[in-house]
Amino acid sequence: MRTGPIRATVAAGFIGLAMSVTAATATPVVSKDAALPIGSELNEQLLNQPTELFAFDRAGGKRFYLFNLGDMLFSSSSIFGGKAADAGMSCNSCHQQGANNNKLFVPGLSARPGTFDTNGALFNAKADNGVFDPVTVPSLRGSKYLAPYGHDGRIASLREFIRNVIVNEFAGPEPSGQVLDALVTYVNEISFLPNEKMTSDGHLTVKASDAARRGEALFNKPFRTNASMSCATCHQADAAFIDRKVHDIGTGGYFKTKTLINAKYNAPYFHDGRFDTFDEVVGYFDQHYDLGLSPSEQSDLVAYLDTIGDADTPFTPNTVQAEVDELTAFASVLDVAIPARDKDVIRLAVDSVGVEWREVGEKFPDRRDTSVDGGLAERLKARASVRDLVLTLRRVAMAAEADDFVEAARLYDRYKKLVVAATPRLQLAEPWSLYNPRVHERHFAALRRLSELAK
Ligand code: HEC
Ligand code: HEC
Repeated sequence: MRTGPIRATVAAGFIGLAMSVTAATATPVVSKDAALPIGSELNEQLLNQPTELFAFDRAGGKRFYLFNLGDMLFSSSSIFGGKAADAGMSCNSCHQQGANNNKLFVPGLSARPGTFDTNGALFNAKADNGVFDPVTVPSLRGSKYLAPYGHDGRIASLREFIRNVIVNEFAGPEPSGQVLDALVTYVNEISFLPNEKMTSDGHLTVKASDAARRGEALFNKPFRTNASMSCATCHQADAAFIDRKVHDIGTGGYFKTKTLINAKYNAPYFHDGRFDTFDEVVGYFDQHYDLGLSPSEQSDLVAYLDTIGDADTPFTPNTVQAEVDELTAFASVLDVAIPARDKDVIRLAVDSVGVEWREVGEKFPDRRDTSVDGGLAERLKARASVRDLVLTLRRVAMAAEADDFVEAARLYDRYKKLVVAATPRLQLAEPWSLYNPRVHERHFAALRRLSELAK
């Protein structure tokens, strides 16, 4: 019950700049950012989201309960404790749609955007190792193939790694076996994105450029200083470009070989995120191993990394329909949890889906937001529909809490009908919402001006 009715009545929960704007307008806003140090950036207002693809999608399969549960939990802050829960953070805050949030920045815990010290004191005083050593947030695409886990490969089991994230890094309660199974199932399903320039066993296709082909040859060519070594001895093309080992390549210790699939979107590079581009990475290897690469060879190698690191559709626009689909999938765990009288899952689902719906509601600015003109009636109707949904959902949890599972099932049914009725209303208001790039731009420009004024 972390998010009570207070959050339900949040009128203008502008994320990111909320605190300063709140001060300026004296609106009674409960901002989740208030739990994080000033200057934190969660990068939540994405117009285009990293594309999310699951192994079963690629195999033509269907969603299933444990996966849906993991999907929902991945976006739930209720599995964490302390500051992370207060701040509304979830796995998804850092591993956005299973990719990396390369803008994530928490003062005191990040050295540069996209890095984070998981052993800092902010989220769990007990986890503090007293050293400021932020590392990049890795993409979880292809996680199934990327054991051992952690940049230093310290944990062989994905389950153990995730348990450690919840309990030790983010001060959450001991998760149930079901919660862990679900998250492991979900993470194992997060797939690499397809790339028409490369086959699944790492060979270039006819779509690859000549420069990339020359780069591939260099990638496989023995180093002049050590003939037993090439890029490919560690980054093995037919094994997701890894060798499942840790190496000291002069970056400050032993770290695991990184996959190069979809890596074009994984910057900043190396465990500490010291480099932003493949140019810099290749320059580093050339120097460290004294490879003697000419400038044109370096650029061919970069072309190769760009090619194998690419994805056909790296980003997908966020729309009302995409949100409705996602939240329908999250809530679908109630199809199983209510008949099973699983109060834990019911509570987690209601909390998590409720928070997400409120965030959807906030994408339809109310009349106080003068940066948006037009569609006010539509926007207000959209907000009202969302409010209805959230309240009905909350009543599902209350009925379950009172052991009235018949009533919970009836209310959940009502909730599903409300979603069907709300969808066209949300879509009608979509042109005047933050789903529209133009409105989004004006809204955040206005917020930035407000926060400047408040300084
Ligand atoms: C505040 C940001 C943050 C949150 C929240 C977070 N992670 Fe991470 N995650 C990281 C960072 C940073 C690393 C690298 C840590 C390391 O190397 O020790 C990481 C590493 C991982 C890895 C290892 C990947 C690999 O290839 O080695 C997995 C799996 C993972 N996280 C899953 C999760 C799950 C599941 C959750 C939610 C229960 C979660 N993370 C929450 C930042 C975060
Ligand atoms: C001895 C094994 C080894 C060799 C040889 C090697 N790498 Fe790596 N590579 C690694 C390791 C380990 C890391 C991660 C280092 C870190 O995190 O600090 C890495 C990281 C990278 C990254 C950054 C990926 C990311 O997401 O951070 C790229 C790109 C890369 N290597 C390309 C190459 C190229 C190109 C060559 C050949 C010039 C090469 N590697 C040779 C082991 C190797």
